[in-house]
Amino acid sequence: MNILVAGGAGYIGSHVCKMLNEKGYNVIVLDNLSNGHREFAKYGKFIPGDISDKKLLDIIFEHYNIAAVMHFCAYIEVGESVINPYKYYENNVSNTLVLLNSMLKHNVNKFIFSSTAAVYGMPEKIPIKEDAPKNPINPYGKSKYMVEEILDDFDKAYNLKSIRFRYFNAAGADESGEIGEAHNPETHLIPLILDAALGKRESIKIFGTDYETKDGTCIRDFVHVNDLANAHIKGLEYLLKENKTDCFNLGSGNGYSVREVIEKVKEITNIDFKVEEIERRPGDPAYLIADNQKAKKILSWEPKYSLDDIIKTAWTWHKERYNGRTR
Ligand code: UFG
Repeated sequence: MNILVAGGAGYIGSHVCKMLNEKGYNVIVLDNLSNGHREFAKYGKFIPGDISDKKLLDIIFEHYNIAAVMHFCAYIEVGESVINPYKYYENNVSNTLVLLNSMLKHNVNKFIFSSTAAVYGMPEKIPIKEDAPKNPINPYGKSKYMVEEILDDFDKAYNLKSIRFRYFNAAGADESGEIGEAHNPETHLIPLILDAALGKRESIKIFGTDYETKDGTCIRDFVHVNDLANAHIKGLEYLLKENKTDCFNLGSGNGYSVREVIEKVKEITNIDFKVEEIERRPGDPAYLIADNQKAKKILSWEPKYSLDDIIKTAWTWHKERYNGRTR
């Protein structure tokens, strides 16, 4: 069965491609490599290109009998989205519409979409359920929520069935050490801490120590990228079998503070490094923890990796990367 994976050369997309490939699906990766890595797109056929390229999409849909599309290509930097919202609405919304329209044109009606916990904005209740209010506070979160709403309308009007996965804090790497998190610029907590451990940066800065949490730092729900990948397989099977539109939180259901994550990295790497405490980063909620019962119940999804596993696998990948094997 052919699955088109848009953004399959990126961090989460490549892990999903690897798992799809292992499960016997035929993977076709479409990626413009603006943030993806050519060497990550090795679990299927690689087609360089953009989801906004209607002609290329026609060729792909005409040539391959695509059963479903998974869509991972989006800009993801919250801060940048505030400064340059056009970039976010153009790519994350407009270009997604081109992809969706091409699917409709070629009678492909199954879609898996990468959404985010950012759709909830500053949550009122923790853990967060899927039906919690959606008040995204930045263009990035808004762009993802707009697509979610478009998908509801497309289901009603065109019978396009979709699964939206709202990721919490994706982290960790495949055990093979072949693929992992490599953003440029990197803004995510765990790779930045690992950089500090490797001496690639002077220190790790904690953004705010005066939150109303147990140690004053923000609490996040870290979920291993292969747990996310596994959810995509389950979501695809559900979509193929049940043909129903739905949305699911993907988080471990556990919260760890920024300070706890730093201490865990020190323990696992056995390396001490400088930690600086600075002011809050605007827009960070104190707590983001998923209620993941819905995905567990409906998709029979069960996250398997602990925070230790996340940091250990991320550390293996990070060291390999700087050894020059994968970069
Ligand atoms: N943090 C630091 N120092 C750093 C980097 C991050 O203290 O150098 C803190 C942040 O302030 C935050 C926590 O670490 O409290 C996690 O920050 P990340 O940037 O790693 O992740 P976010 O929780 O901000 O973002 C994640 C996803 C986004 C998504 C968001 C939902 O990466 O795509 O969750 O709000 F939008």
